[in-house]
Amino acid sequence: MTLVRFCRADGTLDKEVQADPGQRLLDVAWAAREPLEGACEGVMACSTCHVLVDAADFAKLPPASEEEEDMLDLAAHAARTSRLACQILLTEEMESLTVRIPPSAANWMGR
Ligand code: FES
Repeated sequence: MTLVRFCRADGTLDKEVQADPGQRLLDVAWAAREPLEGACEGVMACSTCHVLVDAADFAKLPPASEEEEDMLDLAAHAARTSRLACQILLTEEMESLTVRIPPSAANWMGR
C-alpha cells in the first residue's frame, strides 16, 4: 500500500489515505473526495488535476512526458514540483506521497 497525503492550498493536511500500487493519483483523489476536478478524465487536455508534489517526494516520480509538461505550462499556480494527478501511477516503492492541491485550476478543455 502507498500512503497518500492530500494537503490544502495553505499546506495544512487535509486527508491521509491508503492506496493500492497501480492506482492513478487522480482516482485516489476522487475516492477521497478531494477537490480535483479532472475534467478530461486523464487525456491531458484540461490541467484541472494539477497538484504540487512535496519537494521530498518529487524524485520518486518518473519524469513527466512532453505532453504533460506542455499541459503544466498552462496550469494555474504551476511550480517546479507540479504534476498532473492523472499521469501519476502509485508504486509500492513510493511508500508515501504528499501532494498539495493548488488554490485554483485552469480548465483548458475545449479551448
Ligand atoms: Fe485533465 Fe489530468 S484530468 S489533464
